Amino acid sequence: MNDGSKNGRSPAQHPDTRVVTAGRDPASYHGFVNPPVYHASTVLYPSAEDYVAHRARYQYGRRGTPTTEALELALQELEGPQCAGVALLPSGLAAISAALLSVVQAGDHLLVTDSAYGPTRNFCNHILSRLGVTVTYYDPLVGAAISGLMQENTRAVFLESPGSLSFEMQDVSAIAAAAHAKGALVLMDNTWASPLYFRALDHGVDLSIQAGTKYIGGHSDVMLGTVSANAATAARLKTTVGSSGWCVGPDDVYLGLRGLRTLAVRLDRHWRSGLAVARWLEQRPEVLHLLHPAMESHPGHALWKRDFTGASGLFSVVLKPVPQKAVYALLDTLELFGIGASWGGYESLAVPFDCTAVRTATRWQPGGPTVRFHIGLEAVEDLIADLERGFAALAATT
Ligand SMILES: Cc1ncc(COP(=O)(O)O)c(C=O)c1O
Repeated sequence: MNDGSKNGRSPAQHPDTRVVTAGRDPASYHGFVNPPVYHASTVLYPSAEDYVAHRARYQYGRRGTPTTEALELALQELEGPQCAGVALLPSGLAAISAALLSVVQAGDHLLVTDSAYGPTRNFCNHILSRLGVTVTYYDPLVGAAISGLMQENTRAVFLESPGSLSFEMQDVSAIAAAAHAKGALVLMDNTWASPLYFRALDHGVDLSIQAGTKYIGGHSDVMLGTVSANAATAARLKTTVGSSGWCVGPDDVYLGLRGLRTLAVRLDRHWRSGLAVARWLEQRPEVLHLLHPAMESHPGHALWKRDFTGASGLFSVVLKPVPQKAVYALLDTLELFGIGASWGGYESLAVPFDCTAVRTATRWQPGGPTVRFHIGLEAVEDLIADLERGFAALAATT
């Protein structure tokens, strides 16, 4: 993990420019545009005295290489001036667990949004609870009223906005202000927007998490997680990650760095195509409503407009009630939409989901079957033609 000492930020530049330039240092690599992929464990020291004194720019493969440093620095620059350090983890879930382990200990209480990604809940319920941390799930729409849920020992509040299946928008700054007023830290899974469309640390978040597996990688071929820390949390994050021995393989770090360079153009396309497909879906007679924060019809639209500068290609649809087999017929007929977990790659995906069984603080009653779509980089008209065939198959089974 880098401590930010080498970050040459240019705050005046547009994020689309910084995503291209951040963390680059061709002069250190004989002029080549990209850093080499360092496959490395041992670092050799010039002398025994240097070894004992840890006198080396890089000390050991696990503790960082020029490849990991390039990605960390690039992400730090994108997160903005509040960012004091970035850690790389071997998956998005590992980034979530590393961030949580950096801020809670036995006897503490943690507040987690009811809309959190399922495996985040599993980590809290199975690992944190075993370590003596109590967890309460809260209504994602709680806003400043989170104060009323804080206990004497509440040390952290975890957000995910929008929820990556159900798409509730959280009032991040109101929750962060209320949490800080009671001495708690704020963590957020910011995978949906990435720091390009929401700089979480500017809105009061202390640890901002991304599943780099999604849009940073962008090609469905890498497992990666990142945690960006502000000055209040950077040292603990560094200690937690460093002491636990977590690190990412060099090829995956490189794929993350390579993906990052095209993040702005890809996200822009995911956003626009996603919105076009969502607007088309909203007009369909089979659809009850859309769960897409960038649409005016979404209850969280005002918050999205206030805080975010863009949207990704992930949203959900609530269908009018039909038997589940009709939903499966729709999905099984699609040719351009794969059926599979994860998202953020160049390809479109569609999965059925149901939050009923996991919710504990709120009730999931969308009014009909729900499907999550990821809109990839294909042409919108082809995706719509595919969906038209899917809806014909749905109609044929009802
Ligand atoms: C919102 C969100 N956060 C975190 C993760 C976990 O990422 P990974 O699969 O890299 O562990 C996912 C994966 O689907 C996700 O959707």
